[in-house]
Amino acid sequence: MIKLLNIFISFILSILTFFNVTDLPQDEGMDDGEEIVISGVINTEESSIENTEPEEILIPSTSNWWEYPTNIEECSRNGNDLLVLVNKGNQLPSTYKPTDLVKASNSGIRRGESYLLRSIIINDLKDLIDDATSDGIDLSIVSAYRSYSTQESTYRYWVSYNGGCVSCADKISARAGHSQHQLGTTLDFSSNEIGDSLGSQFTNTKASKWLVSNAYKYGFAIGYPQGYESVTGYSFESWHYRYIGKVNALEMKSSGMILEMYLRGKN
Ligand code: DAL
Ligand code: ZN
Repeated sequence: MIKLLNIFISFILSILTFFNVTDLPQDEGMDDGEEIVISGVINTEESSIENTEPEEILIPSTSNWWEYPTNIEECSRNGNDLLVLVNKGNQLPSTYKPTDLVKASNSGIRRGESYLLRSIIINDLKDLIDDATSDGIDLSIVSAYRSYSTQESTYRYWVSYNGGCVSCADKISARAGHSQHQLGTTLDFSSNEIGDSLGSQFTNTKASKWLVSNAYKYGFAIGYPQGYESVTGYSFESWHYRYIGKVNALEMKSSGMILEMYLRGKN
């Protein structure tokens, strides 16, 4: 009877997830342990320096997803390397933590006081923010560096949120060691156009469209583009950008490859 009830609850949660009823009720472990769960728009007061990522749950109805392989390997490049491939098949050591983390606010990005990024990306992010602002575009930051243990709690949250459905969580959240957020070079953008919330509502903002056209000029690439679930293993995230450096980003754009394929070619 209890088993039947569990199956029923999981089914209802899956339906809610599929239709994107919820608005990303998630915050994550702050200071490597404390877990805060919030609903809807991110609560800055409750956010710590490490991060918040209540992600939009919109799972496309494709049946062709890249699932975790059985033979997961350690990343071939060091975590400090801008071109290290971190994906479902390649994981960072649990001990990897960048040593040059600084407040994202050094770039001038709005809400940056609450998040950490590697210092090497700050200058280019500052240029991006300055130029976007000149073009009348508002950008804010709603997630950045996440430690291995924070990612553990984040992922656990999403499994639980999906009623224990691991394959559901795997489409929207990386397991610990597999997240680009552990690199300190990845951030999630938002905008005052959507009240600094995080999720698929970002896709149709002017800010998102500006990033699609311009982010590469500053060294940034979208991590999980639309229609590539079978390659990246994740649902489309219009807000999630990783810094790979200006030269690499330009090369990637010229090649026509998405980030995942570009990095596979470099690792
Ligand atoms: N949401 C992305 C896949 C992450 O958890 O890193
Ligand atoms: Zn992200």
